[in-house]
Amino acid sequence: MSESAKLSFKGQDYEFPVITGTENESAIDIAKLRASSGLITLDPGYKNTGATKSAITFLDGEEGILRYRGYRIEDLAEKSTFLEVSYLLIYGELPTQAQYEDFSKEITHHTLVHEDIKKILEGFPSNAHPMGVLSSMICALTAFYPDSLNPNRTEEEINLSIVRLIAKMPTFAAWAYKNEMGHPVNYPDNSLDYCSNFLKMMFALPAEKYDVDPVVSAALDKLLILHADHEQNCSTSTVRIVGSSQASIYASISAGINALWGPLHGGANQSVIEMLEAIKADGGDAKKYLDKAKDKNDPFRLMGFGHRVYKNFDPRAKIIKKAADDVLEKLGVNDPVLEIAKELEHAALNDQYFIDRQLYPNVDFYSGIIYRALGIPTDMFTVMFALGRLPGWIAQWKEMRENGEPIGRPRQVYTGANERDYVSMNKR
Ligand code: MLT
Repeated sequence: MSESAKLSFKGQDYEFPVITGTENESAIDIAKLRASSGLITLDPGYKNTGATKSAITFLDGEEGILRYRGYRIEDLAEKSTFLEVSYLLIYGELPTQAQYEDFSKEITHHTLVHEDIKKILEGFPSNAHPMGVLSSMICALTAFYPDSLNPNRTEEEINLSIVRLIAKMPTFAAWAYKNEMGHPVNYPDNSLDYCSNFLKMMFALPAEKYDVDPVVSAALDKLLILHADHEQNCSTSTVRIVGSSQASIYASISAGINALWGPLHGGANQSVIEMLEAIKADGGDAKKYLDKAKDKNDPFRLMGFGHRVYKNFDPRAKIIKKAADDVLEKLGVNDPVLEIAKELEHAALNDQYFIDRQLYPNVDFYSGIIYRALGIPTDMFTVMFALGRLPGWIAQWKEMRENGEPIGRPRQVYTGANERDYVSMNKR
């Protein structure tokens, strides 16, 4: 029996259908609200508003649950690979051996980029933030593959764009870093797996032999899995709304990269390390900054703690914490900034002030630590987030287009001046 919700307004009753998802979440379908009552809803930040129905990722903020296409993030992080998870998110099922081999081969075959992309890269000053370089190069793919501008492309043509994105993103990400370092770019080495190829493009230098550390590559693969999708977060919602205007997939993903760049979203992992480095520069007294965080009159805020959706713990943080401990131990990393991080982590997990406010270490806290331990430079952290989130963005864009969703066009409550006549300049 379908359920409904009633609304009373100015003596008039209205009834709207309630839909319930496969995990028993319910939503009032207000598609007919304005037409029937003249009312709209107001929900800045959309914290109480569902923008869509999606079969890709389920998360439960109260229970600390995260699943991609029904599979637990804990299982995928332990047993899967980033490319397999990418296939799962985008096509809905875990691939067979043959499907996985075809997918991997296709991606390997498309890692190289047009030489003219280097001219775009060379146009950026070395102080350009890698996120701006990355989003520009991804959007530039619309120029090299103009067929992507056609909103009526076949499934096969869209799949080719998907392969190109997954294949070329690591190349662009590594090249953005090389531009910053003033080093020559490295071309992909298709004999390597996805993460090893990225690490070699990032860190290999013409003058030296470079061997990928399998511990680092495996840790990176796990990190990318953990970041691969997160339902309707800010950047994913951006990808969906840009795609809803029938903009190309490259333009939509480029928009998602720019949304992720903000310090309140993907930039949080960069802010964590910058906070830790500031504490170190100020003498390294973690307790001083924990007290500042508790002081309502002090503007200092702890970065990398708490989460707008997870009310108890971020399941990804639990997995990354263990990976961070393993990697730091295996690599024998001894970094004072990371010692400060451990003091803050211990306080957040044991100090009642932080426990009462659910200010526990989140995925950005640990990912910043592990990227630093892996030798990833701080302003590349958000690029790493984008590398991981790419398959999620693609899956959500594809779902939105396949479901024939309308162009996103929210309403507003106008609070500006009422009608008034124009006043000529000499009478103002
Ligand atoms: C994410 O993974 O996108 C972040 O945790 C932010 C979010 O989900 O709102």
